[in-house]
Amino acid sequence: MELVLEKANKLKGNIFVPGDKSISHRSLILGSIAQGEMRIYNFLNSLDCLSTLECMRALGVEVKRDSNDSLTIKGKGLYGLQESKVILDVGNSGTTMRLLTGLLSGQNFYSVLNGDNSIKKRPMKRVIQPLRLMGAEIWGREDGHFAPLSIKGSQLNPFQYTLPVASAQVKSALLLAGLYTNGETVISEPLSSRDHTERMLEIMQADIKISSPEITIKGGIELKSTDIFIPGDISSAAYFIAAASILKDSQIIIKQVGVNPTRTGIVEILKKMGTKIDLLNYHIKSNEPQADLKIEYSELKRVEINQEDVPSLIDELPLIAIVATQAQGKTVVSGARELRVKETDRIKAIVSELKKMGADIEEKEDGFVVNGPTSLQGAVCESYNDHRIAMSLAVAALLAEGKTVIKNSECIDISFPGFEKTLQNLINH
Ligand code: S3P
Repeated sequence: MELVLEKANKLKGNIFVPGDKSISHRSLILGSIAQGEMRIYNFLNSLDCLSTLECMRALGVEVKRDSNDSLTIKGKGLYGLQESKVILDVGNSGTTMRLLTGLLSGQNFYSVLNGDNSIKKRPMKRVIQPLRLMGAEIWGREDGHFAPLSIKGSQLNPFQYTLPVASAQVKSALLLAGLYTNGETVISEPLSSRDHTERMLEIMQADIKISSPEITIKGGIELKSTDIFIPGDISSAAYFIAAASILKDSQIIIKQVGVNPTRTGIVEILKKMGTKIDLLNYHIKSNEPQADLKIEYSELKRVEINQEDVPSLIDELPLIAIVATQAQGKTVVSGARELRVKETDRIKAIVSELKKMGADIEEKEDGFVVNGPTSLQGAVCESYNDHRIAMSLAVAALLAEGKTVIKNSECIDISFPGFEKTLQNLINH
């Protein structure tokens, strides 16, 4: 499929974005191993989350659809999952692969995990190596570097571990494994990554203590189900926040967006660049803060983003490259090497496609440098089958003279089915 977009004048209107992807994955996984029924509201029906849903079903969990975006999970308790008769297919989802590797290491059965071509290239050693220290028996291609992975479930031992790189997926895998030990597992991270797993474990009455940078979880204690209300995904909202920041006279409101501080880096950075962003109706639901975001266009200036800023806006960095093409001065992003091991090499992808559109952008080993402002021209662009690259380029297309074609745009359904429709709503308001 191709997404074809033309230059837009401004964005106006009020919208909702679909439920948070990270929280949707976690509610399925934690609901499956809890005691009792969990109702999930505003679940994200995207391909990645549906991969997790099918994996949990294959592990013997009953998941019922109550409506388009609400589900009920019949929890099996910590020790109630069953061996899958099929290879667990995670599709394109790194979160599914890594979190399930942690969960399945502590079961009393055998599992095999596989996914698409992109997943088979993504680093798995970062999760397998610490899990092996806990006594997990996991194998993968090239000594556990790559999927497919096979796991012989075993009794795990608690341990203390400091993550070498901030990663919510690795942290969450270790917390899930920690539930299957007979003691206290202590995990530290160099910088705070998204903490949705910890927040959900807290309201499910896990024995978890958070004393940043340390998280301590006690194993062997059953989780109690609770209803989960999932906020809109700030990473999906980000495309419209960015577009309203760069299209003159724009003013939009995005309702009920998750504003967990481990995720709001995009808001902080855009405010620093000059965008007017207000948080309205701030409140906490299911232990996660949410708010309506009001965004207004304003002239932008350069910004510098370094390693400390990266975890809270990791998935939004390709979008920053686009915003930077409209900001006065030299924007520098560094300390973001992790972008090279996402669904595609996102540094290479965004630099090459933005160059085609006429941007002044330079690739660096751990980031990029953009000189702005520049005017962009429409081009035929590659998505690299990466949903975030495709949607970031869609934002660039709104600025560009002429027509922009984004190839293989069906990958957008990985995280945001209905993206184009929501965008058109704001353009035609
Ligand atoms: C995610 C964590 C991040 C992020 C990904 C979702 C999660 O990955 O990029 O889109 O749900 O835990 P890392 O843990 O690899 O940084």
